[in-house]
Amino acid sequence: MKKLLFHFDTDPIASVFDTVVAYDGGADQLTQLAGVTPENCHPLVEGAIYTRAPKDKKNTALFIGGSDLAAGQELLAAVQKIFFQKFRVSVMLDSNGCNTTAAAGVALITRNVDVAGKTAVVLAGTGPVGQRAAVMLAMMGANVRLTSRQLDRSKQSCQLMKEKFDVDLEPMVASDDDSIAAALDGAHIVFGAGKTGIQLLRADHWQQHPTLEVLADVNTAPPLGFEGIDMMDNNTDRFGKKIFGGIGIGALKLRLHRACIGQLFKSNDQVLDAKQVFEIAQGLD
Ligand SMILES: NC(=O)c1ccc[n+]([C@@H]2O[C@H](COP(=O)([O-])OP(=O)(O)OC[C@H]3O[C@@H](n4cnc5c(N)ncnc54)[C@H](OP(=O)(O)O)[C@@H]3O)[C@@H](O)[C@H]2O)c1
Repeated sequence: MKKLLFHFDTDPIASVFDTVVAYDGGADQLTQLAGVTPENCHPLVEGAIYTRAPKDKKNTALFIGGSDLAAGQELLAAVQKIFFQKFRVSVMLDSNGCNTTAAAGVALITRNVDVAGKTAVVLAGTGPVGQRAAVMLAMMGANVRLTSRQLDRSKQSCQLMKEKFDVDLEPMVASDDDSIAAALDGAHIVFGAGKTGIQLLRADHWQQHPTLEVLADVNTAPPLGFEGIDMMDNNTDRFGKKIFGGIGIGALKLRLHRACIGQLFKSNDQVLDAKQVFEIAQGLD
């Protein structure tokens, strides 16, 4: 029986990246639907849950993508409300690669450092990737600071993640030398999650920092998030600190994304969000 993946994208045009990974992850047929909302998803979900016998439903799955994580979360909630009893299929949320990118970065960090009880700073953490990285670091026992250029935005992200995952994150501002120094004060781990091509730290912010042990930056377009690193860095020692760059993380992100697609077709009752995607990441080499 063919493995059918239905990609619900919250954007007006569906993602090419997610198309390629869907096939590489094991889907036999991908159907992309753009502009999917909680209001218009009902018949689409019904088409997925009513069409195959119970033992065959695992061969139908849903993937929720798009650039807007809040819209993706609302769509996931709406989809789950339509499921009942055994009338359900597995579904994965990965708006803007939020879960797979964050999970790859945090898995690489936690393979090399025990983060429990340590202080982690997610810089520019208000985007999809940063919010999920903060959640995963907190789930691993780190004390997490989530920064923004505006305190209101970081407070809002921390509140959203509290509501969704019951994690306590500390909102902070990082917008100039003084606030960056305050955000990094006593910190051990920094996760850079800024918009593509935005430098978040100059070399002098981190290279001689007395407590920082690990820095991970997911940005893959120059200028990189941290001055003085290389996007290929993968547990590279620089100034006595372990460095992970965007491609170093991206290689695991791609393997993880494929593994998650494969996982969807193993049963019809899975919901792959931050926690589940991070668990799959921890199981990869
Ligand atoms: N390596 C990989 O495999 C991979 C995969 C997917 C994504 N990515 C990368 O992951 C990163 C995060 O993606 P995302 O979608 O979560 O990011 P995003 O939403 O585009 O941006 C994240 C945050 O960056 C901050 N920001 C925007 N403009 C800024 C500026 N001029 N100066 C300082 N901060 C600024 C904003 O925070 P505030 O407005 O709150 O300050 C924003 O919420 C991107 O660099 C993306 O390319 C990497």
